[in-house]
Amino acid sequence: MSARGSSNGRLAVFVASRFIEPVRRAIAEAFDAVFAETSEPLAELARSERVFDAIFFSLDVRMGADRIAALPPGIRALATYSVGLDHVDLEAARSRGLAVFNTPGVLGDSVAENAIFLMLGAARRATEAIGMLREGRWTGWMPDQLVGVQLGGRTLGILGMGDIGRRVAARARAFGMSILYCNRRPLSEADAAGAGYRPTPEALVADSDVLLVACPSTSETRGLVDEALLAHARPGLILVNIARGDIVRDDALVAALREGRLQGAGLDVFAGEPRVHPGYLELPNVFMMPHVGSATVEARMGMGRILIEALLAWQ
Ligand code: GLV
Repeated sequence: MSARGSSNGRLAVFVASRFIEPVRRAIAEAFDAVFAETSEPLAELARSERVFDAIFFSLDVRMGADRIAALPPGIRALATYSVGLDHVDLEAARSRGLAVFNTPGVLGDSVAENAIFLMLGAARRATEAIGMLREGRWTGWMPDQLVGVQLGGRTLGILGMGDIGRRVAARARAFGMSILYCNRRPLSEADAAGAGYRPTPEALVADSDVLLVACPSTSETRGLVDEALLAHARPGLILVNIARGDIVRDDALVAALREGRLQGAGLDVFAGEPRVHPGYLELPNVFMMPHVGSATVEARMGMGRILIEALLAWQ
């Protein structure tokens, strides 16, 4: 298929989200690109008299069915700068005949490092420690102060052992953790790399000290981590979510943390972002980051590269 939106043979691309400068430059070099200038990029696109072949966007631009229906007729591809696709109504895109591209395989290391960071933050009580230091409440070393738990010797249960889950497993093994995972089907021996399989989330939770939520958000996984599942948790479980907030029922997690059934949580993602359930903000045993798993130069450059290459190969 050839570019239609541009007269010079290059794809005409509307860039709806804000990218780091080198990615912006690479997009400008590869395509006939127009960059949105306001916080209402789709309104800008609708007003534009230019014909575009594709839209470059990210998680900040939700592509629901209504928005997909309202896209200008020339658009033939959606290129989302994300591995997750839950902000895109894939059925609506398919029925409009749009190609959809995302960024698998380039952000796993960055997200896996963040997962370890969240695990450590929750295990070592980082929220309380940072608060104590920054608010001038530290009165000196005490033998009973901020006693957390170590990861070494504990069991990490990975709910959704895909590429990212396997990268977290590799790092967690170096900490001396044993690894379990739950997928619909067991992995090959090579991919499991010694990790034990649990056929159900309940069995995984019951045998884990740290539960890592690493599955995509789908109609099957939304709300999966609920009160009933958490009832299977070992005392002192640490829950870490690097996937999507809506996989976890906030009220259930907040209650379990408040009641001390869980030791702590490390959260990078939240249901209804940027809203954060107020219960988390009150809990000192919750260590949080504002959805920054892929926010490293390496991952963000890789995400730009892979999307540009995919669109160039497609055109
Ligand atoms: C980030 O959450 C992504 O889906 O890339």
